[in-house]
Amino acid sequence: MFSPGPAFVRPFALRTSVSIKCPTASFRTPTFHMRPLTIDTLNPAFDKVQYAVRGELAIKAEVLRDKLKEPNHGLPFDKVISSNIGNPQQKGLDQPPITFTRQVAALMEWPELAKLAPHAFPKDVIERANELTAEIGSIGAYSHSQGVPFIRKNVAKFIEERDGYPSNPNHIFLTGGASAGVSLMINMLISSPKAGFLIPIPQYPLYTASLAQHQGRPIPYYLDEYSDWSTSVESIEAAIEKAHSEGVEPKGLVIINPGNPTGALLDETTQEQLVQLCEKHSLVLMADEVYQNNLHKAKTHPFTSFKKVVSKLQSPIPLVSFHSISKGVSGECGRRGGYFECTNFSEEVVALIYKMVSVGLCPPLAGQIGVDSMVRPPKPGQESYELWKKETDTIHVALALRTHTMAERLNALPGVSCVDSPGALYLYPQIKLSKKAQEAAEAAGKVPDAFYALALLDQTGICVVPGSGFGQKEGEWHYRLTCLCPGVDEYVGKLEKFHFEWVTKYGEA
Ligand SMILES: Cc1ncc(COP(=O)(O)O)c(C=O)c1O
Repeated sequence: MFSPGPAFVRPFALRTSVSIKCPTASFRTPTFHMRPLTIDTLNPAFDKVQYAVRGELAIKAEVLRDKLKEPNHGLPFDKVISSNIGNPQQKGLDQPPITFTRQVAALMEWPELAKLAPHAFPKDVIERANELTAEIGSIGAYSHSQGVPFIRKNVAKFIEERDGYPSNPNHIFLTGGASAGVSLMINMLISSPKAGFLIPIPQYPLYTASLAQHQGRPIPYYLDEYSDWSTSVESIEAAIEKAHSEGVEPKGLVIINPGNPTGALLDETTQEQLVQLCEKHSLVLMADEVYQNNLHKAKTHPFTSFKKVVSKLQSPIPLVSFHSISKGVSGECGRRGGYFECTNFSEEVVALIYKMVSVGLCPPLAGQIGVDSMVRPPKPGQESYELWKKETDTIHVALALRTHTMAERLNALPGVSCVDSPGALYLYPQIKLSKKAQEAAEAAGKVPDAFYALALLDQTGICVVPGSGFGQKEGEWHYRLTCLCPGVDEYVGKLEKFHFEWVTKYGEA
């Protein structure tokens, strides 16, 4: 079966028998043989889950960050740069929250503020908070399990304005980030141990992790790096044929657009072909569109939603589209807000999803309010508009510039090639590794690109994710880095210096 990367390294071992010593209490010696809690006694699916974005490299980065606090740490750098995760507001990165979003959030948290500090809030923010409070009441209460109906109506309006086609608020589910929705839908669609999902390679590991957890089968299809990480219907058809020959039943097609880790953006013609492919093979299309507002070349590479394509073609395919407040200009990862829209789902199926989300009571209210601000930003003429425009323009310009500059400089390095991505928050350079480097990696018990990434972290403090965590073709090596770090010159300068030293040590491939 396809495996997205090296085995997850367990930070602690639970397989030995346990003897508990507590300094404050003394326990009675059991008079019977008590079975300890071990990995072997748990759901075996959990052990198979791998999630490289927070894997070995990220764990080591945290250790190094702690070490830096020691006076004589002896490390060759003075800060750890978290380039491993698309977390725009993370400490050390410089994407500030959007003022409008935080002002609305602040008034929702504590409505008294509007009276105590009336001059701190523009009129439209106070109006917005009053309107939301009238609908929601206290954000300390559970809401409708599907999400506040008023906010879902606003999401539907946003989708209608974006696409020019109707959207039904009753078929929209607000979620605690897109991840919660993806996991739920994968879980629901795995109807048998043979059920599989077509997953792009490279992929964002949420998909293989959710499939491992819910015991579905990943069906990898490869994106073409040599044509800017394009998606081809032929490669998906080939993957479907292979799956059938192995007794796997494809249930769904996952498309990440714009892509993670690739940053690639689909053109409408390819999207139409993909919809037709789903019709032909009775597939549910899972469209992960969380980066729809991270476009670096919007004039030449615009975003088109799958909802629009499906509506335009009047296609009957079931489509689930995911969006999130974690990315785009909002970058509110920690609030956990997102939504998914179901298109061409029967009322019966929507009712079943509703039953399942009811078990979790409701998505976080802070996230739901974040979704409302994302889909209803200030409009021209409103008091908050000028600042909102300035802040969001600054984010777009900085990200586009960094992405392009970094791609250009990475491409100038020996043995490195990098697609200058038109969307999302990342670059995914390919690195050619010499035989000597591969042998050294093997001797260290590491996958070659993880070996490269670990050396990069040890020598520069820059934390990236090796390509083996996202999947890649046999014999190719990559890493993913985010384009969120400030000080491109200093940051890329460190990368360049490291790479030249690496080449001096191990030679060119
Ligand atoms: C492609 C993709 N989908 C989904 C998510 C999850 O986002 P959220 O924070 O909304 O759960 C991410 C996060 O990085 C992502 O890259």
